[in-house]
Amino acid sequence: MNRVSVSAFLGSPRKGGNTEILLNKALEGIDESGANYTVFNLNEMDIRGCQDCGDCEDTGVCTKTDDMDEIYEVIRNTNRFILASPVFFFGLSAQAKAMVDRTQAFWCEKYLLKKPLPQKPIARKGLFISVGGMKKEIGYTCTQASAKAFFRTISVNEHQALSYVGFDKKGAILKNSKALEEVYEAGKKLVTP
Ligand SMILES: Cc1cc2nc3c(=O)[nH]c(=O)nc-3n(C[C@H](O)[C@H](O)[C@H](O)COP(=O)(O)O)c2cc1C
Repeated sequence: MNRVSVSAFLGSPRKGGNTEILLNKALEGIDESGANYTVFNLNEMDIRGCQDCGDCEDTGVCTKTDDMDEIYEVIRNTNRFILASPVFFFGLSAQAKAMVDRTQAFWCEKYLLKKPLPQKPIARKGLFISVGGMKKEIGYTCTQASAKAFFRTISVNEHQALSYVGFDKKGAILKNSKALEEVYEAGKKLVTP
């Protein structure tokens, strides 16, 4: 692909929740920069967890058929990615984690078959956003580790991680103008060539 194109994965089931608010703010920044984006609302998609069947080990291709087929395609064909998730039990939401686990097929392609996804003509970059209700940093440590593993697996070698703590009620993040500004700027930065 010869232009910057963003695929954004929304892992929160709460419509209009804190994760979605932050993601939309980042998308505003992207819009402002004139780049294209597509949002995948993982909660509305049919994505089973990885079955660890091992089928992808020889081919790098998942043999299970569901909405992940579409996501495999966009991960191959776009170059900028956003993963946005609430903190659930110190980790990614189940919706986000199911999608991330299914990228094991890319892990096999990259590390077993030695065929990482190509970087050219436009480098692959990422942005991770997470938000948790507890006022403790430990709440998002695990989400950031999972996000890093996800990005490296899909050959995103460079990503920014922004996590916010202490925002529990739906929409509470709207009171934090610094967070909103940060994700907006991160969206803009994500699409710089
Ligand atoms: C199932 C569940 C598990 C949660 N676990 C945590 C947690 O471990 N740590 C935390 O900081 N917040 C936790 N929370 C609170 C959410 O992270 C918080 O409400 C967040 O703002 C939700 O984002 P959303 O509005 O995008 O859904 C949990 C909420 C739910 C529903």
